[in-house]
Parts: sequence; structure tokens; C-alpha cells
Amino acid sequence: MASFSSSSSATILLLLTLALMTSYLSTRASANNRLNPGDSLHTFESLSYGQYYLLLRKFCYLFFENGNAVIWKVEGEGVFCRLWMQSDGNLVMRAGTEANGRAVWASNTNQPNPTNDYYLLVTNQVAIYDSQNNTIWVNGNKVAR
Ligand SMILES: *[C@@H]1O[C@H](CO)[C@@H](O)[C@H](O)[C@H]1NC(C)=O
Repeated sequence: MASFSSSSSATILLLLTLALMTSYLSTRASANNRLNPGDSLHTFESLSYGQYYLLLRKFCYLFFENGNAVIWKVEGEGVFCRLWMQSDGNLVMRAGTEANGRAVWASNTNQPNPTNDYYLLVTNQVAIYDSQNNTIWVNGNKVAR
């Protein structure tokens, strides 16, 4: 009886630890819907807003989805990438884990006078905003001024 209860509390402890680890890992990026300058979205992470998701999948595939409907996507090449919101306003998918990794895709929204406060926000659209909260890029398209 004593050995049963100690092994079952060990099991409970293990399950609790796993549950905590899983919730930590899965909420890290999905808890918010924004990338600030210098932030990056890692492979298997997502930004979400309701049922809208920006997901970085394996093989450098970036999908923006509403439920199961794909609104916009990039099919990069490679195995693992990160999506970087750069301080110059450019959103760049880079191979590997480093901010100077090979560029696989870019929004090409780098600004002539970087103010270091561009950000990416997921709502019912995925967009890059400037310091005045104006969109400069929406769902894959630059916003004409
Ligand atoms: C931009 O939006 C943020 C958050 O919604 C707000 O706090 C800030 O005042 C806005 N900035 C401008 C210039 O409107």
C-alpha cells in the first residue's frame, strides 16, 4: 500500500511537471498577437487573435489562417526558420535561429528613416504598423501612401 501511494504520487508529480512544461511552451508566443522590433516568431510558434492565426510551420512555411481558411501564406525553403520583426520596419524570414541568418523571404517594408517602433500585429488581418499606428503592410501587400 505504501509503495503504491508513493509511486502514484510520483506519477502525479511527473504529470504535473509535464503539464506545466507544455503550457509554458505552448503559451509563450500564442498568448499574444504582436511582434515588437527585435522579436521573432520561432518555428512551431504562432500569433493569434480569436480564430485568426499566424503560424510558422516546419520547412519555413508561414500561414495566416482564419479557422481552416488560408488567407495568406509564404512557402519558404529550408527546414527551420524564424520570422523577425526588424527595427527598420522590414519583416524577414531567416533560416536558422540567428538574426543574421540567410533571408528566405521579406516584406520589403524597410523604411528610409527607421524609428525602431514598427510592429507586427495579428487581428483579423496580419499587418505591420508604424509609430503612428498606421498600417504599412497588410496580408502580404504594401499599403500605398
Ligand atoms: C497606438 O496604439 C497604442 C495602443 O493601442 C496607443 O497606446 C498609442 O497611443 C497609439 N499611438 C498613436 C500615435 O496613436
